[in-house]
Amino acid sequence: MGIPAGKPLAIIGDTTHNFTWDLPFGYTSEYFRRGLPTQRVYHTRLHNLSEGSTMPSELEKIEGVGPTVAQKLEECGFRTIEGIAAASVKELTSLAGIGASTAQKIIESAQRLASIGLETADKLWKKRQTIERITTNSRELDALLGGGVETGSMTEFAGAFRSGKTQLCHQLAVNVQLPPDQGGCDATAAYIDTEGTFRPERIINMAQAKNIPPNQALKNIIVGRAYNSDHQMLLVQQIQDNPQFEKVRLLVVDSLIGHFRAEYLGRGMLAERQQKLNKHLHDLLRVAEISNIAVITTNQVHAQPDVFFGAPDRPTGGHIVAHAAQTRIYLRKSKAERRIATLIDSPYLPEGEALFTIIPQGISDA
Ligand SMILES: Nc1ncnc2c1ncn2[C@@H]1O[C@H](COP(=O)(O)OP(=O)(O)OP(=O)(O)O)[C@@H](O)[C@H]1O
Ligand SMILES: [Mg+2]
Repeated sequence: MGIPAGKPLAIIGDTTHNFTWDLPFGYTSEYFRRGLPTQRVYHTRLHNLSEGSTMPSELEKIEGVGPTVAQKLEECGFRTIEGIAAASVKELTSLAGIGASTAQKIIESAQRLASIGLETADKLWKKRQTIERITTNSRELDALLGGGVETGSMTEFAGAFRSGKTQLCHQLAVNVQLPPDQGGCDATAAYIDTEGTFRPERIINMAQAKNIPPNQALKNIIVGRAYNSDHQMLLVQQIQDNPQFEKVRLLVVDSLIGHFRAEYLGRGMLAERQQKLNKHLHDLLRVAEISNIAVITTNQVHAQPDVFFGAPDRPTGGHIVAHAAQTRIYLRKSKAERRIATLIDSPYLPEGEALFTIIPQGISDA
């Protein structure tokens, strides 16, 4: 059975636990029973699970996955068959505590079931055409990013304190509101503030400099102040449930792992922390890909005393964080208001550096 194209398959925002399906009449139960082989219903299913539903997991369709294993996998951030199909044996064993041979079998049967698989490159190219870009306000930094921050994937800004991470997040939350010919998406932003550093004053300054009525600029940013890591993860869901979500093209998480680091101290807690972080990152990646949103995360850096050449510090969070963001930018302070951005990871852009400044009006050319 084909999946109707166009609008999302499911609509959330339901408080009565009744689903509203955007499907032709009669298809509902069939899709439901078959475990909904599409990521487009992900939000609804998650929403429902968090309400304590007993609906079977989509993952149970995979040979060798019963309710217990499905639950374990979901807790580690694997919520779709496609997600399992793309996972490595090591990921499943270390994150979900599943034995290697079982993990191998699960992955193989997920791969057989997965509806994504081979696609010709022209289709992927077409998909890439739907990607929009948001200007950072710095020509050099935009060029380094291939024309600005892109929607549909995750970009990480890593750097020490005062390197400009939060300023960049504010600027992007304003610039996403600009029309496309001025480097925006004619859209709105969502901002998860984990450190209490979101400042409406800065938005007002930046909006004025871009000729956006300040009040309008503020109204176009949904802000969630996250007080701990659980709350931070919940906010990702709440943002998707917000009636304004449809217009959101930028989701900021500033900073990504501050709470996780503070709450999970010591080596003994590391595995648990990474597991939770992995789930959070999967949620964010999915929002980026499914809703064509630019997800921006910020990350602190820690010193690498053994490195004598190149960048002396390394973004925190280990491999899980390092591999999640498609694009990683390392920021460092230069003289006065000047900042240096280095592209450290991109699937298609060359490495390079850009200079920009932070001035009262926001991010600017150096
Ligand atoms: N109104 C302003 N006018 C000019 N520059 C400003 C203004 N507000 C902030 N800045 C600059 O931005 C810097 C702070 O940058 P930002 O808050 O983005 O750092 P960060 O990388 O997020 O640091 P942290 O890791 O502490 O969160 C300040 O040191 C200052 O140089
Ligand atoms: Mg900051």
